[in-house]
Amino acid sequence: MKKLCVFPGDGIGPEVMAEGLAVLKTIEQVAGKQMFTTESALLGGSSYDVHGVPMTDQAMALAESSDAVLLGAVGGPKWDALPFAVRPERALLALRKNLGLFANIRPAMVYAPLIDASPLRRELVEGIDIMVLRELTGGIYFGEPRGVSMIDGVETGINTEIYTRPEIERAARMAFELARKRRNHVTSVDKANVLESTELWRKVVSEVHAKEFPDVTLVHMLVDNCAMQLIRWPKQFDVIVTTNLFGDILTDEASMITGSIGMLPSASLGGKVGMYEPIHGSAPDIAGKGLANPLATILSVAMMLKYSFDMPGEAALIDSAVEKVLTGGWRTADIFREGPGVTKVGTVEMGEKVRQAILNSTR
Ligand code: IPM
Ligand code: MG
Repeated sequence: MKKLCVFPGDGIGPEVMAEGLAVLKTIEQVAGKQMFTTESALLGGSSYDVHGVPMTDQAMALAESSDAVLLGAVGGPKWDALPFAVRPERALLALRKNLGLFANIRPAMVYAPLIDASPLRRELVEGIDIMVLRELTGGIYFGEPRGVSMIDGVETGINTEIYTRPEIERAARMAFELARKRRNHVTSVDKANVLESTELWRKVVSEVHAKEFPDVTLVHMLVDNCAMQLIRWPKQFDVIVTTNLFGDILTDEASMITGSIGMLPSASLGGKVGMYEPIHGSAPDIAGKGLANPLATILSVAMMLKYSFDMPGEAALIDSAVEKVLTGGWRTADIFREGPGVTKVGTVEMGEKVRQAILNSTR
């Protein structure tokens, strides 16, 4: 029996998580046995409201002692004015760091029935399948010194971008390995013309490539150019590997190319325990209304089955059920456009459609 640590989090987090867990139950039903036990804990603003901290030591211990972590979303305007140290986002960053999750992989792919939801023209987005590997435990997110203080009588805010050779090597290796299972192409994104931390990034990625992965095509790209190329001709990308901050920014951009940030899952890997979460936020404006798109969370469950539990068949079952539901015309509000054969549904109904599709495909 595998033990899952579940952090529904804030905003729409609990609603989408309920659907993700229900789909997992369906997978067990199909297998004819229980495979997972779950234990939930508060995280983010909801934890702050009860415990005065965004993550308790018990919550961290629960994550560390589990086989995988599922997370909904954290944050919201209610907690925006809190001091930095207790903001909901701190919980997320601490989890990533403490679990050693140095690689965040975020697929950006276009589902054929949703092509028209993309703001880009059909011919630009048709068939897009990009995998971004964002370095997750280093760079400017964690570098010291940091903080706001008075320096020579002037109020000064400081953050530090740091990358060490081992941090770059392990991210690069994972990216090349991913590429070998895909289209054998890696774009490494940096700002090597201005930032020394990424001058080293470029050098180390090149060395890992030459020594261990000469069969994979490697392209170096400056981050500003990459932001432009993602819109100009996104099909040139297979795997993108980049730093923590650049990856944060580029994955939001990449997600929008696909039409909806509500569709995209993510996996954070590299430690003993993998963590899986939708890449969207807590969407406080629609929280509690049953409107949120649960598909990114459902697809995150599929990523968990694939990457943490070596269950690629079950993961594919979920992936293809999601595709069938989209092909069947079912849409939550974020991906809905008026048209023949298209029906708007809420969070729970969307989850049900996926579960039905799983059961139908195994009958
Ligand atoms: C993400 C989010 C987080 C990040 C925030 C919520 C701290 O934007 O996962 O992309 O910046 O990493
Ligand atoms: Mg982000």
